[in-house]
Amino acid sequence: MEAQNWLPPRPRMSRAVQTAIWARQAQWLLSQSRRRFGPMFTLEIAYEGKWVIVSDPELVKQVFTGDPGVFHAGEGNDVLRPLLGENSLLVLDEAPHMSQRKLLLPPFHGKRMEGYEATMREIAVREIESWPTGVPYRLRPRMQAMTLEIIIETVFGVHGGDRLDDLRAALRSFLDLLTNPRMLVPMLAIGPDRIRLYPPFRRRVDRVAELILAVVAGRRRAADLAERDDILSLLVAAHHEDGSPMSDVEIHDELLTLLVAGHETTATALSWAVERLIRHPEKLARLREEVEAGEDAYLTATIQETLRLRPVISIVIRRLTEAIELGGYDLPAGVAVVPSIHLVHRDPAIYPEPERFRPERFLEAPPGTYTWIPFGGGVRRCLGAAFAQQEMAIVLRELVARRTITPTDPAPERNFRRAITETPRRNAEVVLG
Ligand code: HEM
Repeated sequence: MEAQNWLPPRPRMSRAVQTAIWARQAQWLLSQSRRRFGPMFTLEIAYEGKWVIVSDPELVKQVFTGDPGVFHAGEGNDVLRPLLGENSLLVLDEAPHMSQRKLLLPPFHGKRMEGYEATMREIAVREIESWPTGVPYRLRPRMQAMTLEIIIETVFGVHGGDRLDDLRAALRSFLDLLTNPRMLVPMLAIGPDRIRLYPPFRRRVDRVAELILAVVAGRRRAADLAERDDILSLLVAAHHEDGSPMSDVEIHDELLTLLVAGHETTATALSWAVERLIRHPEKLARLREEVEAGEDAYLTATIQETLRLRPVISIVIRRLTEAIELGGYDLPAGVAVVPSIHLVHRDPAIYPEPERFRPERFLEAPPGTYTWIPFGGGVRRCLGAAFAQQEMAIVLRELVARRTITPTDPAPERNFRRAITETPRRNAEVVLG
């Protein structure tokens, strides 16, 4: 097709209306627009500007494998910069991104991951054993507590004591504000720089920084640094290519990034896994049987199907630094190209009966690189993808082996958008037995 010198079609709604719908019903807006305009369309969101949404796997591949100098993900995540800091992996691009990513990759490698298994299991068992039976119980807040505990212990290597209590409380309060649904519209409307000045935000950001910097300072002095395998210790010992160590501020920004990127997301994915499983008792029974037999294939497929059907994040963003041709359109510099995880995962041409929860589909065919994208892709693919899937497997294995789980209401839970993530509206309400 000959390139056309205009943007793909867009809904005939004002920017303000699109922003308001986006903030509450992002997946609905995506699906409706896909139905009306086809696999490529334009949305306009307040602070973000123009987004060209793509949902065809061939175009998604072009975006994920495109030149990182042209497709700026860091700039696309600009909204997070004042919260996570200038050095955060999420907000950097090009050489600074690659250099920081290289420092962060080793702690997430396979061998290291095995080292986190015991901690993950211990925390999961302790948490699950504390849950009440026979009464309606909302799992999402407990999943959050569990994933926060796991990330604090594996990332910071802080086990017990006052310091852990202070850190947990400060992080909880910061993360609660960050994921408060009421924050999204103001954040999109006035931009993060001014939000950063809002006193409740400032206080929380400063308190978290103070505590993280204290842990970093203590770790720099630790005599057993070389033997420790937590992520903070690995970063303290790491060196840039020029031989210089990471600064305190760099380490602070990356630790906070790991916490923010890794905790709410995994807790939400776990909540959805339970929400879907209990509404398909035959799948839950099969999972329990296989787990008890020591088989992991169905467990893995269940996690993959959950992340397909209920992706925690609906889109990823790449802002163009120069004009490109994509899908028959000449897109100008400055617009963002936005692969939609939600739309790719609901495409009936890729997934027959896309609305059905059927883990079996991933036993029949493994997930494809550009058709199963809950963790994004290319040089920006989620650094914690293996960490998250391992954590989900451990928690689900322990949960189904130890408890019966039934829904309080047979009706599926609908989506509820909390800032960036899509969560189950009733917080994964269950009755445990
Ligand atoms: C189910 C849980 C999770 C989901 C669904 C998820 C999803 C994502 C997505 C969609 C991206 C953007 C990728 C892109 O732009 O192409 C991302 C980036 C990232 N995630 Fe995750 N994530 C999860 C868990 C984690 C965990 C546990 C950690 C760390 C402990 C983590 C750390 C990161 C980091 C550091 C990035 C930025 C990578 C970069 O820009 O180079 N995530 N994640």
